[in-house]
Amino acid sequence: MLRIQHEIKPERGYELRKKEHTSTVPRYFVWTIGCQMNKAESRRIAGYLESAGCRAASSFFDADLVVLNTCVVRQSAENRVLGTLGLLKGLKNKRADLQILVTGCFVDSDLQGLKQRFPQVDFLFKPGDYQELVAWSQSQVMAIEQGLIDAPPFDTSVALSPCTLMPIIQGCNNFCSYCIVPYRRGREVSRPPDEIVCEAEKLARRGTKEVTLLGQNVDSYGHDLPGRPDLADLLTELSKIDGMERIRFLTNHPKDISIKLLDTMASAEKVCEHLELPVQAGDDDILRAMRRGYGVEQYKGLVHTIRSGIPQVSLSTDIIVGFPGETEQQFEHTFSLLEEMRFDVVHVAAYSPRPDTSAWREYPDDVPLEVKKERLHRIESLQARIATEINSQLQGKLVEVLVEGKKKGKWFGRTRSDKLVFFEDAGDWLGQLATIQIEKTSPWSLGGRIKK
Ligand code: SAH
Ligand code: SF4
Ligand code: F3S
Repeated sequence: MLRIQHEIKPERGYELRKKEHTSTVPRYFVWTIGCQMNKAESRRIAGYLESAGCRAASSFFDADLVVLNTCVVRQSAENRVLGTLGLLKGLKNKRADLQILVTGCFVDSDLQGLKQRFPQVDFLFKPGDYQELVAWSQSQVMAIEQGLIDAPPFDTSVALSPCTLMPIIQGCNNFCSYCIVPYRRGREVSRPPDEIVCEAEKLARRGTKEVTLLGQNVDSYGHDLPGRPDLADLLTELSKIDGMERIRFLTNHPKDISIKLLDTMASAEKVCEHLELPVQAGDDDILRAMRRGYGVEQYKGLVHTIRSGIPQVSLSTDIIVGFPGETEQQFEHTFSLLEEMRFDVVHVAAYSPRPDTSAWREYPDDVPLEVKKERLHRIESLQARIATEINSQLQGKLVEVLVEGKKKGKWFGRTRSDKLVFFEDAGDWLGQLATIQIEKTSPWSLGGRIKK
């Protein structure tokens, strides 16, 4: 899900512990690429570093400590990591005291091998292995307190954006044939519901209005816990929290999503009408080779059930084009599925062979790059047309937006159905629910005027 590419900086709404910045206070910079999970984990790492007395730097160049939170879902992401490691090697040559830490999915089990390949790196830890980070920090000027590891990270420093990402299940047991994630993130481990609810309560008390629950497959949530609670149960509990106005979750798996979850979505007022339901391909033979565990008709039936039960729902999906052996006709099947389903958002990527995966071992990467690119562009243009049509239906309508911040002088936020909306107003709308009349639509965002 290479959608989020951001760098952690102090933002409005963040409470930073008040400490004077002197030259002795280490400055950190967290560089993040990859999915929402990485974004959430970078916030947590930033929280730990703040708690140890470090302060945020504005770039690599004024940092004493750099953390790279990496992604390798496709070769293009891995190349960005390699490029950044190269840049940091140059910096380290000039400033030997620069500390370089690497985490995220670039870090495989062969830590020794990585250390040898990248001698500029001081310390590597696997995604989510905060115990290791703490242990390392004990030998540094900025020791992270051991006790913090069990406490929710926002207690340390990272408070309050009105919208928070909260991992609920780590890892993935699915082993889709193309995907490296289970090899780098390991098997599924759910967080206990009480811990999640307790964290959400604290966040709500401190002003968070929306929580997005994260997992590679949120439909697996709880199967490894005593009493086997599920995502629907968790949503019901989180709905009881005063002040928490909206609850979202991602990503669902079409083979696992349950009717109980859909019923809970339909009935629980705070649960937003949006689902990320990656289909990956619209051809049964390709889906089988991808080891997705469902067929096209099953997926269509599922979308029909969802739309009948939750009529206002918006749906996003992911597509991989150019999977090994994908013929023109098989690609056409995917294209037709998208035309028929009319998703709100489609994330499309060209197949990239990933080491260790079964597709990498079993199939040659035989669709030429130009063909992959052409298929990718055809899907992007189709989706731009569909999203233009879907969004233009909102023209003149009133929508409720939870305001997340300001960009280039405009407030922005999202509707319950995850549409990005911009508006201008002199007031302070951060963290407020605003009613906006839509005046402008595009495939990617909406613009409007506030109704007071
Ligand atoms: N757990 C989620 C997301 C996994 S990775 C899911 O099951 O959908 C995010 C997206 O990256 C995937 O949905 C897929 O579309 C894409 N992706 C994963 N591996 C890929 C590969 N080897 N080549 C191209 N795209 C890939
Ligand atoms: Fe990867 Fe499939 Fe797991 Fe998603 S469900 S993380 S695509 S193996
Ligand atoms: Fe990338 Fe790992 Fe997320 S490979 S998409 S950072 S789970």
